[in-house]
This record gives sequence, structure tokens and C-alpha cells, in this order.
Amino acid sequence: MSKNINLLIADDEVTYAQLLGERFARKGFNVTVVHTVTQALIEIQKNHFDLALFDQRLPDGDGLELLHVAKATDPNLETVILTGYGTIESAIEALKDGAYDYLTKPCNAAKLEFTLYKALEKRRLAEQATGLSEALRRQSGAGPIIGQSDGVKKVIEMIHLVLDSDASVVILGESGTGKELVARALHFWGERRDQPFQVLNSAALPAQLLESELFGYEKGAFTGANSKKMGLVEVADGGTLFLDEIGDMDLPVQAKLLRFLESGEFFRVGSTRVRKVKVRVVAATNRNLEEDVREGRFREDLYYRLNVVTIEIPPLRDRKEDIPMLATYFLKNKRGSRSEKELSKESIQALEHYDFPGNVRELANIIERGYLLAKGPWIEPEHLFCSSVKGLRKEALSKNVGISQVGELSSPGDVFWENKEDLSLQAVDKRHIQRVLQHSGGNKTQAAKLLGIGLRTLYRKMEEYGL
Ligand SMILES: Nc1ncnc2c1ncn2[C@@H]1O[C@H](COP(=O)(O)OP(=O)(O)OP(=O)(O)O)[C@@H](O)[C@H]1O
Ligand SMILES: [Mg+2]
Repeated sequence: MSKNINLLIADDEVTYAQLLGERFARKGFNVTVVHTVTQALIEIQKNHFDLALFDQRLPDGDGLELLHVAKATDPNLETVILTGYGTIESAIEALKDGAYDYLTKPCNAAKLEFTLYKALEKRRLAEQATGLSEALRRQSGAGPIIGQSDGVKKVIEMIHLVLDSDASVVILGESGTGKELVARALHFWGERRDQPFQVLNSAALPAQLLESELFGYEKGAFTGANSKKMGLVEVADGGTLFLDEIGDMDLPVQAKLLRFLESGEFFRVGSTRVRKVKVRVVAATNRNLEEDVREGRFREDLYYRLNVVTIEIPPLRDRKEDIPMLATYFLKNKRGSRSEKELSKESIQALEHYDFPGNVRELANIIERGYLLAKGPWIEPEHLFCSSVKGLRKEALSKNVGISQVGELSSPGDVFWENKEDLSLQAVDKRHIQRVLQHSGGNKTQAAKLLGIGLRTLYRKMEEYGL
């Protein structure tokens, strides 16, 4: 019954942990034994576990912290906490935080086994009840942050440091480095996880709409305001408001945001009634905000008010040691149960030598493409990095996948004529944007530059075309 059950044991008493591990391995569990919080975090983010046994006191932290992260990664993961005498109170806290049970040390192995089986049964029931795939659940929360580089470790450490505080956070990083992922982690790993998480993207909206999206409006506040509408600060009350691309926010809205951050107070557009909410603000940008401040595009006072905590995510080319782990992770998420494909050694090497201007997002796209194009069990470099559009197109078509898999920019004309594609200007526009986005690895700033249009126009078109 315990076949294929992945069990994680985190306990710093090495011999005890190993004995336990062996015991459960004999019962058929796949057991992973670690001795520190850091090792456990890496395992949780790398692998999928069904059950976890955490010692409460670990040399580099607290088993309860681990519980939070583990639960955020997979809400159905069942956890049992091992605790010494004197810490039973906090073990009871752990139950409130979603642990299945706690046991006091030293603990009889039979009892431990019994508790784990009960926890497993609960997990089975919960999974049947929700009927949700893991992927779906992840989408609604925050997926794991994969990586073992010092840069990623520091990011994860910072997230834990400020998780449940009210301080605003600014997340910096190039496009595709995982800013939104970190913003979600700040919300879904912490106490706010059951409260709303709202996103406002300043680059995607024209200035006039930004204020009303943020603070809401009253009926008749402007032409077209046929009924009143709550702003995102109100919708996010008690939770987190993620201000994406904050560097693109217009100056008048910046002034109103500053007042809101200072007091929690705001007015709906067209209203004189002061309203008040409690929202944790997390902002992100791929721009150099300090430079924007120097050049007067960003208010200095707002910059300091927002920038209580900064989390900087290094570009992927500066932490190449994360590439194999990330690549494997993306591939694992792709795999159906049957069609197992692996990255060849050469592929891993090729990836490690590539610079990833589109960062982690680009890596995910490359893996996706390689997975689609590899016919056999091995994904080779030529599946990942395609140099010939025609060759690629042929392969893509033979597999019935969309032309959007094409990895190189070329004159679209011949392809279209050959395939009698929809030649309306709009269709060509859409396809071209798709390709440029593909080429830039999803980096919208870069794509907008290549297309010779503003970022806002790009967002508008992407929305119009449903990209
Ligand atoms: N360390 C990581 N581990 C796992 N997935 C990651 C990691 N970093 C980024 N990703 C994934 O890469 C993709 C891009 O990340 P995200 O959207 O958070 O980037 P971003 O910095 O907000 O980009 P942009 O500036 O273009 O908006 C997402 O699918 C995200 O889940
Ligand atoms: Mg983003």
C-alpha cells in the first residue's frame, strides 16, 4: 500500500533519522532523509512528496517554518511534527497551521508508523474530494522556487524573513527571472494565503484607467461609469496587492499611491468619502528605479516608501548552476505518465552555455519546445535550439503543433503563401508578434523594442489577440 509514496524525513539526529528512513524504506516508501531546514527546502522544491515528518528543532531553523512552505507547495501534503518535551505548545500551534499530528520524542516506531498511515489516508481522501491535478492547484497558489545558487537561496531566505510582516517589498529583476513567482510566494506561503491576492500591471493600462482600477470609482465619475466599481485596493483588503511593472506608473497615480501607502486611505474616483483598507503592497519592476528617480520619472518619496525591503533576483546567466535543476523541473512538469523523455548530457551542457536573455521563462519555453520536437526518449540540443525555420516548421507540422513553435525570426511571407494561411493584416500582425515574443523568450520589453512599438501597445495587442 505504501508503494510510490514519497516520504520526507527532516531530523538532525542523524542515526535516528536514518533508522527511521530504513524502516519506512523496508515498508516500500520512497524515503528522503535530510538533517537541516535548508536541505529540506531544496528537496521540497525539487521533488514531490506525499508525506513529511519534521523534527521541530533543526540546526538552521524551525520545523514549523518548513511546514508552511511545504503546505504552500502542496496543500494536500500531510505533515507530522516530532517534538521534544517543553515544545509541545508550539507543536499544538503546528496543528492549527495544518500539520496532521504531532508526536513527542522519543517516539515508538509503531506509533509513528500508525500515525503516518492515518495521515496518508487523509491525504487520499482529500485528493479524491478536490479531484484537482497538482498543476492546477499550483496555478492558483505559488509554485516552488527552484534553484540552489546562492542568489536563489538568498531570495528564499528574504521571502521567509518578511513573509508575514506588513512592510512593502520591491522585487527587482530582469524580465522572466521570476518576480511574479516571488510576489506570489510572499502571499501564499504566509498567513495571508487565504486572503485575496490581486495584481495590477501599470504597463498594461492607460493612465486614466490606472487610477480607477486601483481605487475604484463611483457611478457617473466619468463617461462610461454606469455603475460604481470597487478598486483593487478594496478587493485586496486583508491580503496582498501586487503592483507589477511599477516603473511604468504615471506620476499623478504615483502621488495617490503614496498617500495610500502612508495612511491606508483613499478615495474612489468621483467620491469625497475617505475609505480605509489594510493591504500589503508588493511591487515589481525590471527597470532601474533609481535611475527613474534621478530622471524624474519616478517619485523619490514613493521610492523610499515602497522600498522598505528589496528582493533582487539575479539573471539566470549569473546563476548557471540553477539551469540543470530548473530544466529537469520544467521537464518533469511536462511529462505524461507514459511518454518519458530525458535531456541528454549534451543538451544540459548546451543549456549551461547559453545566456538566456529571457531568463527562466525562456528556459521553460526551450524545454517545452525540445519536449515537443524530440521523437525518441532523448531531447538533444538540436531539439532545444533550432536554427532552421523551415526544418523546424516541417517537424512541427508533422507533429501537428502550431507554427508558433518556430524559434527564429524570418520573413514570414513565404511560409504564409505556401500554407494558404489567413493573410488578413490582423492575422499577420498577430503571428508576427507571436514570433517576436517567442524569439525574445517572452521578454515583452525586448519584444516591444524589436517591434518598434511601446510596451503598452504591445500589451494592448496581446490582449486583443488573446496571446
Ligand atoms: N526559480 C524558479 N523556479 C521555478 N519556476 C520559475 C523560477 N523563476 C521563474 N520561474 C517561472 O518562469 C516564468 C516567468 O516567471 P515570472 O512570470 O515570475 O517572471 P517575471 O520576472 O515576472 O517576468 P516579467 O518581467 O516578464 O513579467 C514563470 O512561469 C515562473 O513560474
Ligand atoms: Mg511579471
